[in-house]
Amino acid sequence: MQLHPAAAGQGVRLAVYQTVGSTNSEALLRAAAGETGPLWIVAERQTAGRGRRGRTWVSEAGNLYASLLLIDPSPSDRAAELSMVAALALRDAIVEIAPSLAPRLNFKWPNDLLLDGRKTAGILVEGEMSALRLAVAIGIGVNCAHHPDLASYPATSLAEAGVAIEPAPLFRAISAALPTRLSQWDEGRGFPAVRAEWLRAAAGLGHKIRVHLGDDEVAGCFENMDEKGRMMLRLPNGRLETIAAGDVFPPATAVIAFAGDRR
Ligand code: BTN
Repeated sequence: MQLHPAAAGQGVRLAVYQTVGSTNSEALLRAAAGETGPLWIVAERQTAGRGRRGRTWVSEAGNLYASLLLIDPSPSDRAAELSMVAALALRDAIVEIAPSLAPRLNFKWPNDLLLDGRKTAGILVEGEMSALRLAVAIGIGVNCAHHPDLASYPATSLAEAGVAIEPAPLFRAISAALPTRLSQWDEGRGFPAVRAEWLRAAAGLGHKIRVHLGDDEVAGCFENMDEKGRMMLRLPNGRLETIAAGDVFPPATAVIAFAGDRR
C-alpha cells in the first residue's frame, strides 16, 4: 500500500495496518494524542468497522478501508460537505483506473457511491474537537472484491461488476484525487462547484424517494441539494422539507427506475 507520489510530495503521510479496529477511530485517537495530519490510516481488515448511523461496516480482507485525518480542514459547520468532496474524489479514482465505469456510477445522498444502482462504497466523515482543534476523519470503504448482503440496500462490488481493482492501486489513486478535490472545495468556499458536479450524477434526483430519519420515514420528490449539502424533499402536501441526515431508499414500487437512474 503506497501513497501516490503527488500526495507524498504535498506532505501527506500514511500508516498501514494489517488489522485495526476502525481506521476512523485510529485516526481520531491519533489526533487526540497530538497528530497534526494530513495522515492516511489504511487497513487490510477492520475488526470494528463503522458505518453511518451506528451501523457495523463488515470489513474482511480484499476491500479497501482507508481514512484521511485532517486537522481544522474548514469552519466546523462546513465539515459535513466533506462527504460530497470525498465521493467525487472516489469516483475520480475509480474512473481513472476503469474509465468504462464512468456512466455506471452515481451518488446516493448523502455519501454513498452506487454502481449500477447498487451500493459499492460508503463514506463516513467523523469529527472531534480536541485541544481546540477540529479533527476530521474521512473514512472510505470500497467493496473491491466482495460485498455484504445489506438488508437495508442492494450492494455490489467492483469485482461483481466485472472490474478487478485491488485495494492498493485504488488507494494510490484516491490519495491523489482527494487532495485535488479538497483544493477545489477550498475549505467550503468552492462548495458550489462540488455541489453542481455531485448533483449531475445524483441517484434519484427528480424522483420519488423515501428517507429514513431514525424511526421515522418521509416520502417525497428529491428536488435538490441545498448550498449546505442538505436534501430538499418536496412532500406530497407541497411543502419543501430540508433534511440534514437520513437514509435514502427508492419508493417500494420503483426500485428499478431508481437503480437505473442516469444523468
Ligand atoms: C456507510 O455506512 O455507508 C459508511 C461506511 C464507511 C466505512 C469506512 S471503512 C474505513 C472507515 N473506517 C470505518 O470504521 N468506517 C469507514
